[in-house]
Amino acid sequence: MAAGTQTESKKSKSSSSRSSSAKSASSKSKSTAKKTSTTPKSDPATRLLMQDHRAVEKLFKQYEKAKEDPAQKQAIFQQIYMELAVHTQIEEEIFYPASRPHVKEEEMVNEAEVEHASAKDLMAQLQKMKPEDPYYDAKVTVLKEMIEHHVEEEEKEYFPEVRKTDMDLKAVGEQLKVRKEELMAKMGGGTAH
Ligand SMILES: [Fe+2]
Ligand SMILES: [Fe+2]
Repeated sequence: MAAGTQTESKKSKSSSSRSSSAKSASSKSKSTAKKTSTTPKSDPATRLLMQDHRAVEKLFKQYEKAKEDPAQKQAIFQQIYMELAVHTQIEEEIFYPASRPHVKEEEMVNEAEVEHASAKDLMAQLQKMKPEDPYYDAKVTVLKEMIEHHVEEEEKEYFPEVRKTDMDLKAVGEQLKVRKEELMAKMGGGTAH
C-alpha cells in the first residue's frame, strides 16, 4: 500500500516537472499534434473491433440468463463461438500485422496473439462438449474472463497507442469490414467445414 502511494507521488512529481519544461512539452505536442485528433469515432478500424467486443459481451450476459436451459446455452455458445472465431481471425490476419510495425512494444502484440490461442483452445474444448457437462458452465465462465481481460488490454492500451501512430486506420478498417463479411457468410452459410 505504501509502495503504491509512493509510486503515485513519484508519478505526479515527474509529470509536473516535465510539464514545467516548456521545451520538452512543446516538442512532444508537436510530434503527436496531428495524431491526437484520432478518436475511436473517427477510426473505423478499432471502431469495428470494439463493436465486436460489445456484441460478445452481450452474448455472455445472455448466456448467464440461460443457465437452466441446456439447449439455449448451447445455441448462445454457438453464437459466441462464431463471433469470436471471426473476430480473432480478422485481428490476426489484418489488424495485428498492420499495427505491429507501428507500436512501441511488439511484446504487446505477441501477448495478444497468445491470449487468442488460449481462448481458441477453450472454445474448441467447449465445441466438443454437451451443455449438460458439469464443466460446461465453468469453461464458459473462464472463457468470458479471459476475453474480458484481453478486451480491456486492447481497448485501454493497444488501440489508443495505435491511434497515435500514422497507421492507415481507414484502409485497415475497410479490410477488416470486407474480411469479416466474408467470414461471417462462410460460417453462417454452412458449418460443414
Ligand atoms: Fe479484439
Ligand atoms: Fe484480440
